[in-house]
Amino acid sequence: MNQTYVHGYSERENQRLQDQASTLSELLHVDSLFPAGSHILEAGCGVGSQTLTLARQNPQASFTSIDISTSSLEQARQKLEAAGCRNVQFQQADIFNLPFKPGIFDHVFVCFVLEHLRAPGEALASLKKVLKPGGTITVIEGDHGSAYFHPDCAEAHLAIQCQIKLQADAGGNALIGRELYPLLRKSGFTDIRVSPRMVYVDASKPGLVDGFIRKTFTAMIEGVRERALQTDLVDAAAFEKGIRGLYRTADPDGTFCYTFFKAIAIK
Ligand SMILES: C[S@@+](CC[C@H](N)C(=O)[O-])C[C@H]1O[C@@H](n2cnc3c(N)ncnc32)[C@H](O)[C@@H]1O
Repeated sequence: MNQTYVHGYSERENQRLQDQASTLSELLHVDSLFPAGSHILEAGCGVGSQTLTLARQNPQASFTSIDISTSSLEQARQKLEAAGCRNVQFQQADIFNLPFKPGIFDHVFVCFVLEHLRAPGEALASLKKVLKPGGTITVIEGDHGSAYFHPDCAEAHLAIQCQIKLQADAGGNALIGRELYPLLRKSGFTDIRVSPRMVYVDASKPGLVDGFIRKTFTAMIEGVRERALQTDLVDAAAFEKGIRGLYRTADPDGTFCYTFFKAIAIK
């Protein structure tokens, strides 16, 4: 995973994850509320972008936030410490080999992680083991097939396809949002509720124009430029035109739509 994680662990990617989390916080987390006293496992916390929102919104709950990357964990730890949050414990751990006793967590939270895993179903099964009977899981993922925009641009779609293909080549799935229901069902979860969360952006929402179109989505597609060109998926001129096409949607007459999927299910 460390070698193939399509976005990498660069400073720029960490900033992108932070921008993404701040921009989408309300849309994704308005209902990320856990009862006082509950113990939540956050799997794949990265640099702590979601952790910060969760911990602040749920001061009476306690979180164990794990990641496979020690450097990301260190950044997450510093971020939460700077924010004065004391209800999170960080721990290096692999989702596929969790160092916890069965059934000890009230809730499991996973955001933007399954899309990078070769075996998301196995990950869910592993997480299910440490969840107590009747406990709940929240999974949030995007789906790059849900991106459409004005003005439309064939090369922008091609650039997005490069990202989807590279992520698939690395064993992930950038179209996983639409699969959350069947994945959770196959893993034996019940009462599965999937709620699509559409981000719709036009110039009347300048925060989203900058935070989502430019700094989250287009920054992510730009992030695969080198590898897209190396693998001959696209030529440089078409890729650059595609990126310009995506930025163009941030102009005053542009619009952009993207859908995230948030699933909640019970063990
Ligand atoms: C795109 S980041 C998402 C981080 C965070 N959840 C967020 O939404 O900002 C995916 C994270 O999953 C972690 N990860 C990938 N495979 C993992 C595994 N097998 N066990 C634990 N963490 C893993 C990566 O190290 C990375 O930090």
